[in-house]
Amino acid sequence: MEFSRRLNRFGEEIFAALNVKKLALEAEGRHIWNMSIGTPDFEPPMHIRRALFDSAQDPASWKYSLRDLPELTQAVASYYLRRYGVTISPDAIMSCYGTQEGCGHLAMALCDEGDTVLLPDPCYPVFKAGVLLSGAEPAWYPLRAEHDFLPCLSDIPEETARKARFMIVSLPANPVGSVAGPDTYRELVEFAKAYDVLIVHDNAYSDIIYTEEPGGSFLATPGAMDVGVEFFSLSKSFNVTGARISFLLGRKDVVDAVRLLRSQIDFGMFLPIQHAAIAALTGPLESVEKQRGLYRERRDALCGGAREIGWNIPDAKGSMFVWAPIPAHYTRSMDFCMDLLERAGVLCTPGSSFGPHGEGYVRFALVLPPEQIRQALSAVEKSGILKP
Ligand SMILES: Cc1ncc(COP(=O)(O)O)c(C=O)c1O
Repeated sequence: MEFSRRLNRFGEEIFAALNVKKLALEAEGRHIWNMSIGTPDFEPPMHIRRALFDSAQDPASWKYSLRDLPELTQAVASYYLRRYGVTISPDAIMSCYGTQEGCGHLAMALCDEGDTVLLPDPCYPVFKAGVLLSGAEPAWYPLRAEHDFLPCLSDIPEETARKARFMIVSLPANPVGSVAGPDTYRELVEFAKAYDVLIVHDNAYSDIIYTEEPGGSFLATPGAMDVGVEFFSLSKSFNVTGARISFLLGRKDVVDAVRLLRSQIDFGMFLPIQHAAIAALTGPLESVEKQRGLYRERRDALCGGAREIGWNIPDAKGSMFVWAPIPAHYTRSMDFCMDLLERAGVLCTPGSSFGPHGEGYVRFALVLPPEQIRQALSAVEKSGILKP
């Protein structure tokens, strides 16, 4: 059978080879330090689990929910005011099944075939997948070390900026670990106004940031609400990745358009999950701030520890990822990942899987406690892989 031409836009999973190798090594009894996937090993707070459990006891919770509960969108609005100082109307907020799903469908609501969307390179892969699904074309803006892995707006050709329907920005950034100050966000608002481009900010990591103060929201920037929307995921702050809870909020006409698209294919988020989300958003946040400190200890163990053994990995500034240059005697990140797994038992992700500018780097997810990170680094040192 012939399948849709749309599917031809997606390549084979070329990194399956790494997983095959991992399984083979484990079958031989080797210990693998797995820092490839960004699934937190921390637990969701008990009050969130209890809210889901309590709601699930009620048979009425098992019906189609059909909409976001007013208490849910109000909880998001109150959270945005409490946590980020942003005032937003509950009707400019909608839920999605994780930012992954929201991003996957966004371009279908905003673009037609052949439209242009500005995307960071390297980036979180669904940014590209969503654009391809809609039939639009990605136009890449590079995130480079010499520009602190931040968008360099003056490098974007004027013609591309004018053509673009929207631009995705995500800071703190996966995979590169960069963080924006207020200037970056102000420049983005000016850029959006000058070229009539919508800014879509993916705010997955405002609670995993190594600055003194906790992270913020793009929507707190003056003028941002007129030119932007933000994805706000609970996945990483509250360790609820499997529950698929995220929101799109900001410019109301954009939120309305995405809501119209999703209402064609969805009957609403499972009510116990909506209740769990309300508990997360209205409950205590001490554990979130404590966790930020724990991620910092892991970041220090990995980046500081690597530098001690002669691997010059700069400190990540935010996100749960560390972006590490591969040793100079390697040219391909995939080759280095394979050798690192084979020789040291350490699994990370090749930078090339995040876009062409990711080549020459690998990404580590901070999903192991500091002690295990130190053991992994000791295995790296013993393996001799860092030396030509
Ligand atoms: C930049 C970024 N956005 C969004 C997500 C996923 O969010 P969700 O679990 O809400 O789909 C991730 C997860 O790794 C991410 O790195």
